[in-house]
Amino acid sequence: MTLDLVTIFPAMVEAALAAGVVGRARESGLVDVTVRDLRDYTEDRHRVVDDIPYGGGPGMVMKPEPFFRAVEAIAAERGQPSAVVLATPQGRPLTHAKALRLSRMDRIVVLCGRYEGVDERVAEALVTEEISIGDYVLTGGELAALVIVDTVVRLVPGVVGDSASVTEDSFVRGLLDHPHYTRPSVFRGMTVPDVLLSGHHAAIEAWRRRQRVKRTVERRPDLLDAAELSDDERRELEALRAERAEARRGRRKRAPKPRA
Ligand code: 6GU
Repeated sequence: MTLDLVTIFPAMVEAALAAGVVGRARESGLVDVTVRDLRDYTEDRHRVVDDIPYGGGPGMVMKPEPFFRAVEAIAAERGQPSAVVLATPQGRPLTHAKALRLSRMDRIVVLCGRYEGVDERVAEALVTEEISIGDYVLTGGELAALVIVDTVVRLVPGVVGDSASVTEDSFVRGLLDHPHYTRPSVFRGMTVPDVLLSGHHAAIEAWRRRQRVKRTVERRPDLLDAAELSDDERRELEALRAERAEARRGRRKRAPKPRA
């Protein structure tokens, strides 16, 4: 897979992509990630990439020409990209499913916006998908682009050594992960749950399953609608919901809500 990232802050992005799993995947040749300076695709002496907005208003807008020239240069060098992604808070949300789809593509280009936005003609005629990484605004698309590249690259076969750690990931099947512990078994008075020290594999798996379901119910109930639960997980979910309903009934009886 080739991944070309276009930004006005190449040094910022390059540093992050040199480290860790992504850095190793690049060194081993599993992915070819190239960072390109958007200003290299300007034609004026001052390498200007932004201009004032038509219609007025605050801030500056990124000009279309450098983005078009950059993508055309990348296409000439590598072949037609399978996806041209624009990192923008106006995009559709990044999900595991989207990352998996991108990880199966041959050639991806990621464009980073800055300032108030990017001239809409870039999204119209150059970009195949606009992606947001969440409901908050960053100062620029670079951090979002790094998030996109990180999650896509780790899904490329061979990049993560133990393929189980990818397929058994939280979100792959729609549940949060269970808690993890390592030595020492007692740390500052805090203990590791007995079951994990028991060597009883079926009991350990049952405990972990329950923890995944419990956490998801408590923290991300929105995930449960789409989650593909096993029969055991489904039973665990029903049991937990019954317990929670019972606890609510208990609270109501003991402390009736004051009437308005
Ligand atoms: Cl992709 N870009 C910016 N600037 N802010 C964001 C974002 C992207 N996703 C969430 N917030």
